[in-house]
Amino acid sequence: MCGIIGYSGPLEAKKILLEGLSQLEYRGYDSAGIAYFDTASDIRLIKRTGKVSVLKEACAQEKTTSHCGIGHTRWATHGGVTDANAHPHRAGKVTLIHNGIIENYHSLTKEFSLEGKLISQTDSEVAAHVLNHFYSGDPGTAIKSLLERVEGTYGFCIMFDDRPGEIYGVRKVSPLVAAYTRSGALIASDLTALIPYTRKYFVVPEGCIVKLTGYKISLFDTGFSPVTPEITEVNWNMDSAMKNGFPHFMLKEIHEQPEALKNTILPRMSKGLPDFTDDAVPDSLFTDCRSIHMAACGTAMHAGMAARALMEPLLRIPVSVSIASEFRYEDPLIDEHTLAVIISQSGETIDTLAALRLAKSYGAKTLAIVNVKGSTIARESDFVLYTHAGPEIAVASTKAYSVQLAALYMIACRMAFVREKFTRHQASSFLTGLLDAIPAMEAMIRRKEEEKNLVTHLIQHRDAFFMGRGLDYAFSLEGALKLKEISYIHAEAYAAGELKHGTIALIAPEVPVIAIATQEHVFSKMISNVREVKARGAFVILLTKEHAQVDPGLADIHIRIPDIDDRFTVFPIAVILQLIAYYASIGKNLDVDQPRNLAKSVTVE
Ligand code: AGP
Repeated sequence: MCGIIGYSGPLEAKKILLEGLSQLEYRGYDSAGIAYFDTASDIRLIKRTGKVSVLKEACAQEKTTSHCGIGHTRWATHGGVTDANAHPHRAGKVTLIHNGIIENYHSLTKEFSLEGKLISQTDSEVAAHVLNHFYSGDPGTAIKSLLERVEGTYGFCIMFDDRPGEIYGVRKVSPLVAAYTRSGALIASDLTALIPYTRKYFVVPEGCIVKLTGYKISLFDTGFSPVTPEITEVNWNMDSAMKNGFPHFMLKEIHEQPEALKNTILPRMSKGLPDFTDDAVPDSLFTDCRSIHMAACGTAMHAGMAARALMEPLLRIPVSVSIASEFRYEDPLIDEHTLAVIISQSGETIDTLAALRLAKSYGAKTLAIVNVKGSTIARESDFVLYTHAGPEIAVASTKAYSVQLAALYMIACRMAFVREKFTRHQASSFLTGLLDAIPAMEAMIRRKEEEKNLVTHLIQHRDAFFMGRGLDYAFSLEGALKLKEISYIHAEAYAAGELKHGTIALIAPEVPVIAIATQEHVFSKMISNVREVKARGAFVILLTKEHAQVDPGLADIHIRIPDIDDRFTVFPIAVILQLIAYYASIGKNLDVDQPRNLAKSVTVE
């Protein structure tokens, strides 16, 4: 999850690097540093634990100008949070920053007799020493030798003492994007650091070496033959990557959901049906498969859980969802007849990428649902459906969840139609129902004060329980994760019918229980479950549809969503669950957008 920025050009490099690191703060980090060539062509290095603002203060003492440098925000994997462990790392003539994990750094430490020479506890410093060992004036040869020795994942940016103005980059799994702009040459771990300078960029291909100088960018393969970069146009503008006046990215992104759904759904509608022609996703993908297996992490996995609850009864084929970090080490029952759906907002989550690669190795056809254009998972999948949510900066995923569900629902609808489980009319009315969810979301966003008021009770407790049945159970998983990750309240999601098999022992007076009861076929059962927890003194927050019949006083707080088709209640319910978490975090004065221990994209295992 580290952030990388590199610059070479006519402008003041320190300023560009520090601004770039500020753009990358959302990735989550615990320390930051820069290194740059000064006017005497010596490399100067400043790094500090803590926020980028701490680094900026330290750099304010640096009077020299600079036109070439690299910067890094570190999310600790190996070694504690210390100045020494922060990047960049120096070894001999090499200065290096790294995003990823070198799995064999212990054996490299022994092989290159680095014991006693290392000043940090990091795998990255070992890589710097190994690279310096091979460096005798030719960066390409030395980098190639390094790549032949390291095992694991990396995004490296490197400078050599005797090559002022030059930056070298190379990647494996970890992301690196680069661009030559009017301001000079730039390289970064993701687009938010490039957007202020350019809309055109390229992804550094794995195994290729990119060289940045003040006047051009060159790309070479491992045989040092030139490679033409594949230029892509970014479909975001800087404005959409900023807060637009909202106090936090998360609240901005909650508000953006209706628009994000429209941008994801409407371009894929033709004659009232889902149409993936422009995505180059053929109907054969949906007619030929005998089962669907989804793999993802966190919120993306919860989107898969909700979609599964809808898809399996509709399509009448096995639909399963795996936690990617488990799936990747299993021997799954998938084959060439399986459609593997890989869900990821960032398209860089390493466990999800590994799950994709495993699914492909078993012969499954792979369809990725990804928000970031050109990301690794998108590029390695057989087919990709991009969600058009725009940049999601807050660590807590909100609009990505909604658009992932919208994409999955459209896939379910198209599959049902081409597999003759839906008539044209049924498919069209399903899609209409999906679109009706958008004004329902807008209504819940307008009523956000309801959630602001209800968290007062919630934040006085260490624990909270979410419960539901069917689709509502799938939604409750996401509600629990949201609350946990940004308010640090220990929340658990439970299938309501399961509570009495043990967990109800934890229900004591005033313990908050968020009960989701939007599915009419199990509504009376849900109300019975609410009575069970109420009888034990729980503080019940009940979420139902507008006209649900509920005894007054049954719930301590009752929030009603517009009366839409049961299948689509996830969209307004998601807004409620996100706002509950958001206001709980605010109420506890926590860092909503960058919660402790978390990062936006988990690119390390
Ligand atoms: C969600 O709020 C979390 N930030 C996290 O669970 C996230 O959904 C997960 O890491 C998957 O990320 P991805 O969608 O980018 O693969």
